[in-house]
Amino acid sequence: MSEGIWRQHLISLADFSVTDYELVLQTALSFQEVLSRRTKKVPTLQGKLVANLFFEPSTRTRNSFELAAKRLSADILNFSPSTSSLSKGESILDTARTFLAMGTDIMIIRHQAAGVPTMIAQDMDNLSGKVSILNAGDGKHQHPTQGLLDLFTICSYLNPLKPLAKDLIGKKIAIVGDILHSRVARSNLNALVTCGADVHLAAPPTLLPLEFSEYGAKIHHQLDPALENADFVITLRLQAERMSEFLIPSLREYHTQFGISRDRLRNCAEGVQVLHPGPVNRGVEISSDLMDDPRLSLIEKQVTNGVSIRMALLYLLGSSGGSLL
Ligand code: CP
Repeated sequence: MSEGIWRQHLISLADFSVTDYELVLQTALSFQEVLSRRTKKVPTLQGKLVANLFFEPSTRTRNSFELAAKRLSADILNFSPSTSSLSKGESILDTARTFLAMGTDIMIIRHQAAGVPTMIAQDMDNLSGKVSILNAGDGKHQHPTQGLLDLFTICSYLNPLKPLAKDLIGKKIAIVGDILHSRVARSNLNALVTCGADVHLAAPPTLLPLEFSEYGAKIHHQLDPALENADFVITLRLQAERMSEFLIPSLREYHTQFGISRDRLRNCAEGVQVLHPGPVNRGVEISSDLMDDPRLSLIEKQVTNGVSIRMALLYLLGSSGGSLL
């Protein structure tokens, strides 16, 4: 690893400290200021090459990484599996090595299988030692940039001028939905528990095994105790693509029991705010009117904040300690 770099790769939030979270929040805040200017671009990563290697579909993460790289003046290569030589039988590692041979500095990896970003990071370390791997979501393992943008969104709501991880201490946060299949839930748990939030999980037993208490959260198989006095509610998508069997009786019944609506929020803390990482199944995990209500929903803010957070992470991984702006 080169000197002056915060860390070589970002694969998981499991080893993040409060200091790491504060560094990311303060860096994202600086880039949020850049994005409020008339000219929303800085030369920070001029001459760097970023490759967006998305082996699984994405709207938010892929496009916000592309925009973040462009705002930092990096060059960016996009990759689509269906139009790539993967369809001719080329392996994932040979695909990554092809981008390495073109001089890529940061590879952003999304894959439907857990462990692929780690496997590529190990291969890149053996071959070059200079490439950074950024996990953009791998199976149900981790989605660290989503966990960080959710943290930034909550802390910015609490204190827009100076979002601080320590402001989460004692805040009650409910995470509701398909926790079993969710990489977002795992990254959220790492971030929110480490920063001192009181995290409550709620889902049917088929989607919330008791082992999740090992993250330091409280487990509920009914919704109301998790929502009582909650300051924030994070709803999660039912991830049918990762379900190998029928785990809920029906979508209608699921919505009745675990769907978030204005009515279900009645026992939350005053001023409660709802988040969802997207994409959303409207009317299943959250009612459509609640999702679109700017007084109660931070969902649009999450998408906006994704750009500053990803600028911060590209800077922290790729700048070799150079100037921020
Ligand atoms: N939240 C999230 O990862 O969304 P995308 O799949 O659209 O990137």
